[in-house]
Amino acid sequence: MHLLSSSAEYFVWYIVSLFIFFKCLCKNGFVVAVSVGIILFGIIVVIFFMSWVKLVINHEVTLREGSQVTEWWAKPPVVPMIKVYIYNVTNADEFLNNGTKPIVDELGPYVYVQKWEKKNLTFNSNGTVTFLPEKIYHFDESLSAGSEDDVVVVPNIPMLSATSQSKHAARFLRLAMASIMDILKIKPFVEVSVGQLLWGYEDPLLKLAKDVVPKEQKLPYEEFGLMYNKNATTRDTITLFTGADDITMHGLIDTFNGMHKLPHYTEERCNDITASDGSIFPPHLTKNSTIHIFDKDLCRKLPLVFEKEVIGSNDVPAYRYTPPKNVFASVEENPDNMCFCPQGPPCAPSGFFNVSLCQYDSPILLSFPHFYLANDSYRTAVEGISPPDEEKHKFFIDVQPLMGTSMRAKARIQINLAVSQVVDIKQVATFPDIIFPIMWFEEGLDGLPEEMTGLMKLGISVPPVAHAALSGILLAVGAILLIVAIWRLVRGANRLSSLQLAPGHVGQSTNKNKDNGLGGMPKY
Ligand SMILES: *[C@@H]1O[C@H](CO)[C@@H](O)[C@H](O)[C@H]1NC(C)=O
Ligand SMILES: *[C@@H]1O[C@H](CO)[C@@H](O)[C@H](O)[C@H]1NC(C)=O
Ligand SMILES: *[C@@H]1O[C@H](CO)[C@@H](O)[C@H](O)[C@H]1NC(C)=O
Ligand SMILES: *[C@@H]1O[C@H](CO)[C@@H](O)[C@H](O)[C@H]1NC(C)=O
Ligand SMILES: *[C@@H]1O[C@H](CO)[C@@H](O)[C@H](O)[C@H]1NC(C)=O
Ligand SMILES: *[C@@H]1O[C@H](CO)[C@@H](O)[C@H](O)[C@H]1NC(C)=O
Ligand SMILES: *[C@@H]1O[C@H](CO)[C@@H](O)[C@H](O)[C@H]1NC(C)=O
Ligand SMILES: *[C@@H]1O[C@H](CO)[C@@H](O)[C@H](O)[C@H]1NC(C)=O
Repeated sequence: MHLLSSSAEYFVWYIVSLFIFFKCLCKNGFVVAVSVGIILFGIIVVIFFMSWVKLVINHEVTLREGSQVTEWWAKPPVVPMIKVYIYNVTNADEFLNNGTKPIVDELGPYVYVQKWEKKNLTFNSNGTVTFLPEKIYHFDESLSAGSEDDVVVVPNIPMLSATSQSKHAARFLRLAMASIMDILKIKPFVEVSVGQLLWGYEDPLLKLAKDVVPKEQKLPYEEFGLMYNKNATTRDTITLFTGADDITMHGLIDTFNGMHKLPHYTEERCNDITASDGSIFPPHLTKNSTIHIFDKDLCRKLPLVFEKEVIGSNDVPAYRYTPPKNVFASVEENPDNMCFCPQGPPCAPSGFFNVSLCQYDSPILLSFPHFYLANDSYRTAVEGISPPDEEKHKFFIDVQPLMGTSMRAKARIQINLAVSQVVDIKQVATFPDIIFPIMWFEEGLDGLPEEMTGLMKLGISVPPVAHAALSGILLAVGAILLIVAIWRLVRGANRLSSLQLAPGHVGQSTNKNKDNGLGGMPKY
């Protein structure tokens, strides 16, 4: 709007000056031409400056071999942290024997400081870059509310996964399972340390499965841990668009482990993984933009929509994006989610996302912490979980909209186990149908270092100022020159008319005018 009205104004200027230009070219031509030229250039600056800035930003954010931006992207100079909260079950025996509500005690945070690095960067000729992402986790006892050696009691996920899955199998299989579990002394709750629960402990069932199950159905590990094999491993290969060919694809995943899409769901749109990994997004985001992030363990790409404007580190403005409230809504409430439920109905209830297809068929449901956005009955089925608090439990990411750089993020997810009661297996016969919360975590980035925000600030604040200054100066100089030229012209014309009686002086007089015009120029 502003641009339009100001360009209209300048257009009038342009017409006026053009008119004067033609009228007086013959008399005071050079100064008029120069001033009109300057005004024209000013108009061009007014109209096109922001597009040039856009082009410069596009050029700067594009990932290129050896550039500073690429270095920051590959080895972010940031300190991301993951805070883990574990639901310690304090009445496991009563729950199993007397059918009382499970009581949990939320322990944590257990804080791990992360170091991110993208290894083996290879720039491809088709505007993509291939790399191996690596995250290294270091436990930070001083920030944590406990030690990694804290002993916790949690549901036995491998066992309850196996029993829940056997629900529809033949009865004799369930009985066989029961006796194997008897022999191996497997119980529905395990007592492990926090470190073991996260990073892995040997599980007798997985070990057995590894030995007896045919090779092609084999689980890859004999250890179980919620973050097993995530420390310092670079097993995934990601190819993403650098933005060199198409800036609107900048930072979006092209292939994940060689795949352009997920194999799990019934529709393209659910299988699609054209999303950011959370660190960089296409530049020039608007409040209308829906951004997406993909994470392997999320088993889908997660949409995020604009929530509000925020101020990031070092006063750099950012937009906060958060998943829409119906992102995990049931298919009744949000039919778009139907394709995430390939074997349904029944499908996951509102507030949950079924990731069993990405978790070797374990009945794992993801939700937001404290069952935020789910029916409160799931939270109150367990004692000891406080009501969800949007500020503490929602998932969000703050992105600098011009450049598409993440400035702050809190990726918060809760892991739940959907247990199905199986009466034939005596160990779990009294374990009712329940969505049992196991833990939740917050993977967060609190801000960017000064070296990055300083440059971003410059990139945001300089162009508008330069725009205003440059166009202002050009138009002012042009206008002043024009006025001077016209003034001289008018004076010259007056003198001309007064000299009309002495025709011999006409040529001299115009020449003098021209000289004055030229001589006057450096003044301005
Ligand atoms: C977890 O709960 C168990 C009882 O079920 C208790 O023995 C243990 O000390 C608790 N762990 C922590 C760290 O509080
Ligand atoms: C609950 O079970 C325990 C044994 O685990 C038993 O001692 C206790 O009496 C039972 N309580 C009730 C209320 O039934
Ligand atoms: C990554 O690069 C290192 C050395 O540059 C090499 O040893 C390693 O095999 C590469 N990894 C992959 C998966 O290509
Ligand atoms: C770009 O090239 C890489 C490596 O050759 C390949 O993995 C990827 O599929 C290609 N992507 C597109 C969109 O052509
Ligand atoms: C992760 O690996 C690094 C070394 O690769 C090690 O120093 C660190 O202790 C490990 N972290 C955890 C939580 O095991
Ligand atoms: C944003 O979306 C609204 C409603 O969908 C639409 O009216 C508006 O024009 C859009 N604005 C931009 C800048 O695309
Ligand atoms: C989760 O998905 C799996 C595989 O599609 C399905 O068998 C299971 O019933 C689903 N669980 C829930 C609670 O929807
Ligand atoms: C929550 O679940 C209960 C019972 O499962 C149901 O009666 C109630 O209507 C649900 N509430 C909402 C807001 O959906």
